[in-house]
Amino acid sequence: MRRRQFLGGSALGVAGLIGVGVPLVGSARRGGQGVSPGSLLTSRAKLPKPYEVKLPIPKVLEPVSSSGTTDTYEITQQVADLEILPGLRTQAWTYGGTFPGPTLVSRSGRRTRVKHRNELPQPTVVHLHGGHAPADSDGYPTDLILPADGSISADQATAAMVEGMHGHSAHGRPPGTLGMAKGERTYTYPMNQPAATLWYHDHRMSWTGLSVWRGLAGFHLVQDDEEEQLPLPKGDRDIPLLIADRAFEEDGSFRYPLTDTKLLRPGITDEFMDGVLGDAILVNGAPWPVHEVDRAHYRLRVLNGSNARPYTLQFDQQPSGGQAFAQVGSDGGLLERPVRHDAIHLGTGERADVVVDFSRWRAGTRVRLVNTLADGTAREVMAFDIKAGAVSDDAKVPDKLVRFPRLDPAKAVMTRDFHFRQDRYGWVINDQPYKPGRALARPKLRQLEIWRFTTNQRHPVHVHLNHFQVLSRNDVAPGPYDVGWKDTVDLPSTQTVEVAVKFTDYAGTFMLHCHNLEHEDMAMMGDFVTE
Ligand code: C2O
Ligand code: CU
Ligand code: CU
Repeated sequence: MRRRQFLGGSALGVAGLIGVGVPLVGSARRGGQGVSPGSLLTSRAKLPKPYEVKLPIPKVLEPVSSSGTTDTYEITQQVADLEILPGLRTQAWTYGGTFPGPTLVSRSGRRTRVKHRNELPQPTVVHLHGGHAPADSDGYPTDLILPADGSISADQATAAMVEGMHGHSAHGRPPGTLGMAKGERTYTYPMNQPAATLWYHDHRMSWTGLSVWRGLAGFHLVQDDEEEQLPLPKGDRDIPLLIADRAFEEDGSFRYPLTDTKLLRPGITDEFMDGVLGDAILVNGAPWPVHEVDRAHYRLRVLNGSNARPYTLQFDQQPSGGQAFAQVGSDGGLLERPVRHDAIHLGTGERADVVVDFSRWRAGTRVRLVNTLADGTAREVMAFDIKAGAVSDDAKVPDKLVRFPRLDPAKAVMTRDFHFRQDRYGWVINDQPYKPGRALARPKLRQLEIWRFTTNQRHPVHVHLNHFQVLSRNDVAPGPYDVGWKDTVDLPSTQTVEVAVKFTDYAGTFMLHCHNLEHEDMAMMGDFVTE
């Protein structure tokens, strides 16, 4: 059995190979309190002062064609030189030249096809996070799109994924549902799902952390009639916010603790195996941006697109009466009714759709959104400058939003346990490191199951294909952020969460995994097969 590269080639690796029963990694202590999910990678570049850059809003992508049933889009994955830190250039891996990539907007019930062309120097895989999609469009982690220029062969791409992976030799091609494509692949999303804030990102086995860190992430919104009829803020008062921490080298390039900078073997240095935290906070790709707002209601679709960092977001000044956030949606769509919060918590991969009424602060106020889980530069996130002057504002937070069925746990056919923890080989689920083609569960379509996730330290647990409903946390009622349809649930420290899930429509191989991307790359992932 091969050692994973992150354990390092030297003493630790050898200890692992000969099976010495010593704990190889001391990370449980570092992350043990559930507050810090990783280690801080500090920037060598000079970071700007917060609140000097305007908030960018990702462009909405236009379809290249539309028929009665289908909208077709094209995205070229390409290297782009971005000015993220003022005066410096960052070479990013992008969807269409920007970070975040362009926002796709789909209509519920209309098929969306996205043709991705890979002009990057590395293989990629596209996953629509929160998308209810068939297996062949779900972005199985070995279903690569090889670079269009032919610079990397299928064998080289396989070697780069499995070198150092548990139980794999470089010569056994890992099974995928599709296999590899050269240069481009079209993903088809039926979009039989309600209005929601989804996102798309890279999902290549062993490399997702690096790929997302370098820029491969973007929003994909779903809209429907029910949402449209609600008096929620619209137009430029409906803003997606992708929050992600990063670290930068002196020349402005992204800093990431790779063990092999030629990218032939996956892996990061031992000290970061808990996760990589950056000291610069980017919102929509800009460091600590500021956005001017009217004294009016805004819908903020907040996505934690960080590799490992969790956020508890709060305004530095509470409006009188508190409860600055009216949460109207979570991962999988709108809630039944709004939930008011003083702060919103987001583990990696999670979304919160909130309405904020900026007329609750005085004109001329600058309100800062801060992450109360972080210190230092990473505590600041972004700011809103509240403009003076009368404005029209028809938006409000309705008492009732949408209806959806409650999954009744009494009807569940079975309960499955998934233990997220570390063994001496690394991060595992039910003692198994990720191995493509090995199913951890074979749920039947249309049957309700209870899935119970237990963690040894902070793990944001993500399930593909269908959204779930949280039934309990540590055997008591779900927490304030467990509302609605979820696809990712953050488990700080040692916790157990029970969710009700019913897989529908698509038979095939899907994933569940920790959405701390470093844990995911280090094998905290499993297949499940619906049948
Ligand atoms: Cu957001 Cu399987 O991923
Ligand atoms: Cu996903
Ligand atoms: Cu984890």
